[in-house]
Amino acid sequence: MLTSTSPPTDGDYDGTDGRWARYAFGDGSRGYTRNLVDEGNGKSNLLVLVWSPGKGSPIHDHGNAHCLMKILKGNLTETRYEFPQHGSGEQPLRKISQKTYKENQVAYMADELGLHKVINEGSDFAVSLHLYTPPNVAKGGCNIFDEKTGRRSHVPSCNYYSAYGQLLK
Ligand code: SIN
Repeated sequence: MLTSTSPPTDGDYDGTDGRWARYAFGDGSRGYTRNLVDEGNGKSNLLVLVWSPGKGSPIHDHGNAHCLMKILKGNLTETRYEFPQHGSGEQPLRKISQKTYKENQVAYMADELGLHKVINEGSDFAVSLHLYTPPNVAKGGCNIFDEKTGRRSHVPSCNYYSAYGQLLK
């Protein structure tokens, strides 16, 4: 489990109180770990993701759901691509933007905005808080995409590394 040395704060949760640390299990053998914090009465998923240095997620969609990502520790670089049209044949994905988010910054992502991948370009683990609503990806998985061909493959389940602070394995 990672530790946070930040002091507790009053008021709205802003990540500096370090309460996320008990969910933040890192594993350098993986690109990142997905750690379930809460299922929001079946309406959402709140996850802490721990990103290994130099690694990240594949290009993926968001199962027709909203995704909010807040950086809790380190920096994360997001690359966005146009969502490929069905039936457009094989062609490279078109890159739309690239942005590095720093601690406490928030990104919003949804299928209307395209596809994305997220990479931790730093030399230490990075941590982010993700809210997905509705929890479509937890129920039905998502699609990952090949950057060079645009080919998609369905990933039926996106597993958790831990749930409610307990390692699953
Ligand atoms: C990401 O947005 O890159 C992380 C996706 C996930 O929840 O696995």
